[in-house]
Amino acid sequence: MALFTWNDDLSVGHTFIDDDHKKLVTMVNSFHDAMEQGRGREVIGKVLRNLVVYTQEHFGREEAEMRRISYPGFPAHKAAHDKLIREVTELQNGFASGNTLLTVKISLFLRDWLLTHIKQTDKLLAAALR
Ligand SMILES: [Fe+2]
Repeated sequence: MALFTWNDDLSVGHTFIDDDHKKLVTMVNSFHDAMEQGRGREVIGKVLRNLVVYTQEHFGREEAEMRRISYPGFPAHKAAHDKLIREVTELQNGFASGNTLLTVKISLFLRDWLLTHIKQTDKLLAAALR
């Protein structure tokens, strides 16, 4: 069962940002499913790596837009992105070194982070882009 689903509450009203977020929700669910289905560490690790890479690409796209419009909230928003990447990398390293219990923690952490970040931080950015 999906860990969470996309709903209109999550829409920031900006096409590429919404599309990226939908894909992130799908990828967090895939990671959660792989774990729930008892997939091997290699598969789970790969799904997680893809998720981290896509997250970094998505952050890069948002940050390019912020620079383009000289967004005043850029430093704080960028700091939130950087912090998330640091935290996920730490969890990823823990997983890679054998702590499989971390998988539940990682998917819940990503879900909660994404929901809060979209509703608070990204909605402000989307409003500024309009
Ligand atoms: Fe963001």
